[in-house]
Amino acid sequence: MNKTKRKATSFRNSDFSRRRGEFAAALHPNSAAIIVSNPERVRSNDTEFPFRQSSDFMYLSDFPEPESVLVITNLRGYPQSVLIVRKKDKSAEKWTGIREGIEGAVENYGVSVAYENTEFESVIEDILGRCENVYYKYGINPAFDARFEKVWRENTVALHDPTEILSEMRQIKSERELDVMRYSAEVSAAAHVEAMSLCQPGMHEYQLQATLEAVFAFNGCRAPAYGTIVGGGKNATILHYITNGDVLQDGDLVLIDAGSEYLGYAADITRTFPVNGKFSDAQLEIYNLVLAAQEAAIKAAKPGKTLNQIHEIAANRMRRGLVELGILPESMKNKSGARKTLAQAKKEGTLDSMAHLRRFFMHGTSHWLGLDVHDVPHDRSSRDEPLAPGMVFTVEPGLYFDFDDETVPAQYRGIGIRIEDDVVITEDGCEVLTASVPKKAAEIEKLMAEAQARWIKE
Ligand code: GLY
Ligand code: MN
Ligand code: MN
Repeated sequence: MNKTKRKATSFRNSDFSRRRGEFAAALHPNSAAIIVSNPERVRSNDTEFPFRQSSDFMYLSDFPEPESVLVITNLRGYPQSVLIVRKKDKSAEKWTGIREGIEGAVENYGVSVAYENTEFESVIEDILGRCENVYYKYGINPAFDARFEKVWRENTVALHDPTEILSEMRQIKSERELDVMRYSAEVSAAAHVEAMSLCQPGMHEYQLQATLEAVFAFNGCRAPAYGTIVGGGKNATILHYITNGDVLQDGDLVLIDAGSEYLGYAADITRTFPVNGKFSDAQLEIYNLVLAAQEAAIKAAKPGKTLNQIHEIAANRMRRGLVELGILPESMKNKSGARKTLAQAKKEGTLDSMAHLRRFFMHGTSHWLGLDVHDVPHDRSSRDEPLAPGMVFTVEPGLYFDFDDETVPAQYRGIGIRIEDDVVITEDGCEVLTASVPKKAAEIEKLMAEAQARWIKE
């Protein structure tokens, strides 16, 4: 089993109290912010999906239990944190594990006071009676939404959404967050290397999924950050393919998009490689084009640039390459020619029957990365914000040719390729967190050939 050499980092209580202090200071004066946990979700009858704390909660406290609420106030200028938690219950704890209760919450999680969650209404009523503003985000936990709404209706103060403040804070990662993300990224990279090493024709896609997720867990990353994608052949052209049930065929590529979660923080890596260890000529042409676009985009990632500009660089590189391969018409070689050709086709109603870039590259090059794999900020305007040190995002151009797309030369049909790395902006450029998985075609072929030679010997 592939074990990463990097040592795991963990957060200190002081990290969370510092964040709570900064958050309290950013609220309007005399405010309370109420941050609720995710609900537990039923998987079947009386068994639940594994619980995951809501991301904003996790950013402000490492209290891990469901049915809990974190309240942060700044009344009269003093920041204070309160936890509202599940009651200790001997018979429930016999089935589902020890609960912290109110004593554990105060002793271990840096809050000045804690209450049992049966008291939610009276605690919130008391706080609303003493503040002028309340911050609450609806849609995280419907049960708490209804309970909060009822109390707030009877004790109305100005209502705000905490998202903007928290998004701004979460967007810039601290050194310790970056260390945690480096760990998650390196574990995920080790998992991709393991999958590349074990892949062979005849395996099922889910067997590679099992390999990846075993390496995650073996290294202490107890969950994938999102549904692992293993798509062989034309399945790679389905962007969020998670069925993972087909047999991997000799001669096909396989696209793996998989990342682990560590202390809540996501990694997000995609590699595409030949099932039998050797790229065909047509696969290599498309692969090298996507790689060139990805490398150009990473090279451009530095303070002051924007995600939209980085996307433009990747898209332009792929447009030019597709013209060179004869997949796009010569008229699209430069930007203004491409614009004119598209406008003309739109006017004539022929857009659907012609080759153009968006048909083959239909997603963005980047998204923010952090406690959510598609991290905050969610508003599209953040794509025009100048990048600054501590911002983390993915760089993931791809090309996807449907198997039955007659606008594409036959040798390229059914090919889907994405290459995805995670980067953090530094003072003068960026650091690639996921650099330890090979991505040059020759390096991938070498790694796979060496792994195959090892099995033959064994
Ligand atoms: N893994 C989902 C994405 O790359 O956005
Ligand atoms: Mn991604
Ligand atoms: Mn991905």
